[in-house]
Amino acid sequence: MSQVFHPRFGFRARLALLGVLVLIVGGCLAWRGMTGDPHRLGEPVAQPVPFSHKHHVGDDGIDCRYCHADVETSAFAGLPPISTCMTCHSQLFTDTPMLRPVVDSWRSGRALHWNRVYQLPDFVYFDHSIHVAKGVGCVTCHGRVDRMPLTRRVVPLSMKWCLDCHRDPQKYLRPRERVFDLDWHARDQRRLGLRLVRAYRIDTARLTDCSVCHR
Ligand code: HEC
Ligand code: HEC
Ligand code: HEC
Ligand code: HEC
Ligand code: HEC
Repeated sequence: MSQVFHPRFGFRARLALLGVLVLIVGGCLAWRGMTGDPHRLGEPVAQPVPFSHKHHVGDDGIDCRYCHADVETSAFAGLPPISTCMTCHSQLFTDTPMLRPVVDSWRSGRALHWNRVYQLPDFVYFDHSIHVAKGVGCVTCHGRVDRMPLTRRVVPLSMKWCLDCHRDPQKYLRPRERVFDLDWHARDQRRLGLRLVRAYRIDTARLTDCSVCHR
């Protein structure tokens, strides 16, 4: 059997096979690197300024809408312009090195570039305002940002993750007035959820249509 191939041919064939294998695996890894999430799930994302939701939301109690002003009315929650930071930081902590990029940006008029933590591919459509209007809490998709010194992603943002809720939204719905309350828990989620699906006229049959998220 061992004489079917010349020993040297066998060696070259094996070398070639190995080469092909390395190319395939390498190619897959490179593809994943180019198209996959820029940040790993759960890892804090570095920013030009170490902005802390823990300090600003958890300790100082600033409402999400103060900085993410469009979240109730538009598809995008929006990131705050430097002028929003300067309402406080034109007086507070202006000398700390940590705030230097903020002060520089304010003086030069050049916007700070925040590294994105949550980002969907272009072929997926998402809208904040409808989720807020129908009682999906910020905490359900973004976790306890009030405990995060640096913001990190807490959900996979996969199609399966979206669909898990679109199939059974009653597992997650809360009263609209609790959407921004990160501490809130339902006492009986099942009952409340079913009641809210009716009250907010949520059409679960339609929510899994491809065209809802791929338009
Ligand atoms: C004082 C201003 C401020 C407040 C208040 C605030 N944020 Fe932010 N938020 C920011 C800034 C600045 C960033 C960009 C830096 C970062 O990712 O941490 C950000 C980023 C985020 C991100 C990541 C966005 C992305 O994809 O990069 C989420 C999610 C978020 N905030 C949710 C919230 C929620 C929920 C609340 C209320 C509980 C809130 N924020 C309150 C300023 C604020
Ligand atoms: C409503 C007032 C207010 C606004 C608006 C505000 N901050 Fe602050 N910031 C504070 C206070 C108060 C502290 C002190 C934090 C503490 O110890 O609780 C602080 C601290 C900081 C620090 C020091 C590090 C830390 O977390 O202790 C940084 C950096 C900072 N803020 C960045 C920003 C940026 C960037 C923005 C705009 C997106 C912003 N802040 C908007 C009040 C504000
Ligand atoms: C149903 C899940 C869901 C809920 C609820 C939700 N978000 Fe988001 N959020 C996302 C997704 C998905 C993205 C990325 C959007 C994209 O890339 O187009 C995002 C992005 C963001 C961003 C980055 C800027 C932007 O709009 O892309 C901020 C800030 C943010 N969310 C804040 C909030 C706040 C504040 C709340 C509560 C009022 C909230 N989100 C509720 C899923 C959610
Ligand atoms: C925790 C629950 C939950 C999660 C997670 C969630 N959604 Fe939704 N989504 C809802 C609810 C509830 C509605 C409102 C449905 C209605 O009004 O009938 C909605 C509505 C929508 C709509 C508007 C539908 C329309 O045309 O009226 C879009 C688009 C959408 N979601 C996209 C997404 C995408 C993309 C993701 C994942 C990145 C996602 N959603 C994750 C609960 C969720
Ligand atoms: C609730 C929102 C939602 C619905 C409904 C939805 N998708 Fe998606 N889809 C997504 C998201 C989010 C991604 C991106 C996943 C990622 O980046 O990992 C995606 C990705 C995809 C992709 C790219 C391949 C992949 O898995 O990354 C295809 C193909 C796709 N969807 C087809 C469909 C088809 C067909 C339907 C209807 C049966 C559908 N989707 C319904 C949210 C949705």
